[in-house]
Amino acid sequence: MLPAAVIDQIKADLPEWHWQGVGQGASIMEVSHRGKAFEALINDAEQDLRDLLAIPANYSVLFMQGGAWGQFACVPMNLLRADEYAGYVVSGGWSKSASEEAAKFGEVAVLGLSEEDRYHWAPKLSTDIIEKYNKSHSRPDKLGETLWSYFYVCSNETVYGNELHTLPRDLPAPLVVDASSHFLSRAMDVSSCGLIYAGAQKNVGPAGVTIVIVRDDLLDRAPKAIPAVWHYAHMAKHKSLFNTPPVFSIYATALTLKWIKAQGGLDEMERRAVARSSMLYDAIDASKLFKAPVVKADRSRMNVVFDSPNEEIDKAFVTFCEARGLMSLKGHRVRGGMRASLYNAMPIEGVEALVAAMREFETIQSKL
Ligand SMILES: Cc1ncc(COP(=O)(O)O)c(C=O)c1O
Repeated sequence: MLPAAVIDQIKADLPEWHWQGVGQGASIMEVSHRGKAFEALINDAEQDLRDLLAIPANYSVLFMQGGAWGQFACVPMNLLRADEYAGYVVSGGWSKSASEEAAKFGEVAVLGLSEEDRYHWAPKLSTDIIEKYNKSHSRPDKLGETLWSYFYVCSNETVYGNELHTLPRDLPAPLVVDASSHFLSRAMDVSSCGLIYAGAQKNVGPAGVTIVIVRDDLLDRAPKAIPAVWHYAHMAKHKSLFNTPPVFSIYATALTLKWIKAQGGLDEMERRAVARSSMLYDAIDASKLFKAPVVKADRSRMNVVFDSPNEEIDKAFVTFCEARGLMSLKGHRVRGGMRASLYNAMPIEGVEALVAAMREFETIQSKL
């Protein structure tokens, strides 16, 4: 869901894009990415992102393509060195896919896994866990020492609805974070991470652009023989304008960044996320029909996953909601159940309407 104000601005700019009040003589879908106005826009978007997340000067901001799946491969291509391990925490389907993709490029160690519990909690990475792994997997060729290229977490598992409310710190190698589905819903300590990436299409814009924030000392780790568009240092050198970027997606993202700033920034986004999600979790916890399976400490503020006693009731509830204009509540196909995605632009009234529908449905069910 994008903010209504952003969609209104896009509508106005579709016939002719105006940059800082000056008509560009063409739609935003037609302008050149080499034009001065677009160059100014992408620089402005980067600055807004830097302001919102307080990104330190020694980090580059890249606007890339290929979605988060592209980053599943791009991260190991650039950062995973021969004879070293990448340590993955598998807290859901996305981090599982990322670990499998990384294994195509080098050695992967799974350092936490909650699959047996249907990802109802998010494993926490700590130096103790890493040391334990080092001891049990020491490699003679490294004189008993296990060397790590990076550690990887998905900070919000969109399908299973768990979220890391704090990121691991002080690890012996850089932390890589897939923040796609809760990006800009709260402040993040960028300086505690080596690399953060997020596909835009959840909280910041339409699909097509992936934001990568990478510490500059990691840029040159990549071997030479990787494709230019996947090479972080190459993309940084060209300020994300090496080849044709997804102009429309970056433009819409730039508008959303301005909207977030105007609303009060990430503290305000977090306040709203807490208000929306706690209203819904409270209603689920008070219900006799619905259950939220994720442990309280790890519950996602963006993707609220819940179940009824069986698939038939799930289906009836989703249909009941659709008739009331409450859309997209069906859980992801790999998990089933229900999922309410409460991204930044979702007004609290959307949650109030869902809670009212749940109560009404439960009353009807109790009389059957
Ligand atoms: C956390 C997370 N990572 C990765 C992906 C995959 O993103 P994409 O489809 O942009 O490759 C998704 C998609 O929903 C996601 O939510």
